[in-house]
Amino acid sequence: MSAEFVPGLAGVVAAKSAIGFIDGKQGILRYRGIRIEDLSEHSTFEEVSFLLLFGKLPNADELAGFEADLKAERALDPAILAVLKALPKTTHPMVALQTAVAAMGGVDDHMDVTDAARNVAAAKKLIAVIPSITGTFDRLRKGLAPVQPDNSLGHAANFIYMTTGEVPNDQVARLMDVCLILHAEHGFNASTFTGRVVGATLANPYATMSAAVGSLSGPLHGGANERVLEMLAEIPGVEAVEGWLDDALANKRKIMGLGHRVYKVKDPRATILQGLAADLFAQQGSTPLYDIAHKLETEAEPRVGSRGIYPNVDFYSGLVYQKMGIETDLYTPIFGVARVSGWAAHWLEQLSDNRIYRPTQMYVGETDAKYIPMSDR
Ligand code: COA
Repeated sequence: MSAEFVPGLAGVVAAKSAIGFIDGKQGILRYRGIRIEDLSEHSTFEEVSFLLLFGKLPNADELAGFEADLKAERALDPAILAVLKALPKTTHPMVALQTAVAAMGGVDDHMDVTDAARNVAAAKKLIAVIPSITGTFDRLRKGLAPVQPDNSLGHAANFIYMTTGEVPNDQVARLMDVCLILHAEHGFNASTFTGRVVGATLANPYATMSAAVGSLSGPLHGGANERVLEMLAEIPGVEAVEGWLDDALANKRKIMGLGHRVYKVKDPRATILQGLAADLFAQQGSTPLYDIAHKLETEAEPRVGSRGIYPNVDFYSGLVYQKMGIETDLYTPIFGVARVSGWAAHWLEQLSDNRIYRPTQMYVGETDAKYIPMSDR
């Protein structure tokens, strides 16, 4: 066996998977072989979740059944509500989400992950309830009463409703739906890999998914969309963008929302979201930050585009969520609301042909060190 050390496991093939395909050189993303452009135009998050979990598009009856199953699991168990209420109001929503998802293991006594039907039921429950946890905790921390799910609404619209207390208009609901589709799956990213590693130990699904949530919470993974807005807020106006950008690049500063570990052309998800964001801001009024972002992208292209640094999906997602009236620190949980479908699909795939992950290390510490008695140290 090769003992080559690869920091961050970059490029190391750790599993075979038939879920998400990414070609970073050509800017291609496919779920189960279907292009993200087609899914974002024609599909819904519910249909995409079915596709990711079961490997095929549902027929009408299958989709209706799947949607009904998700709706049946939307309401929070009283014990989970109590957990959320017990947390300090200053708790980051990702911490609240991870805690609540782990606590679901106490409500659903699902320890036998060899039961495939039960695993599928847990996957659906997690997809259904993560939006409810996110929206409910946001309300609780603001001193607002939780909003019960409205089963006349689709998944994305109900999530906004349970968060803001208002039923979104069709354009906003569809935009959230597309944002969830775009973030649902992305191959062997850190949180998916985390989930697969924990799942491979045959841990219960809530231990597995809460670990994935914890992995997503880090600023190098899910947290970048919040930081795009913080960065844009530093720029005083559209006229200041060129000077700010030149200064930032001269100081070797990373521009948040640009660049990607895998994509060396424009992230196809950013292209889709950019078009939808442009429609949203044109129809519902622009914001100063959106104008600054648009100018920043235009100015960045001639400066760093030739080095393969283009906007990624996070460049526009935060601006869109902000326009929807969603708090900045909910952007990463929204990523989780979407990515749970990918995590669940990978968990089921992992269990279908499981082997526990056990890589090795290159030991660089001392060998044969002497034990020194306390009195001599
Ligand atoms: N702004 C300015 N320069 C950037 C840049 C950015 N956003 N991203 C990469 N670069 C430059 C680096 O400074 C480096 O330049 P150098 O060769 O002169 O040192 C070069 O491009 C390679 O950078 P590196 O960090 O090694 O590229 P990577 O492909 O490993 O990194 C990211 C990818 C995502 C980590 C990086 O682009 C980044 O930090 N982007 C901003 C954060 C972000 O948006 N993250 C969300 C990703 S979905």
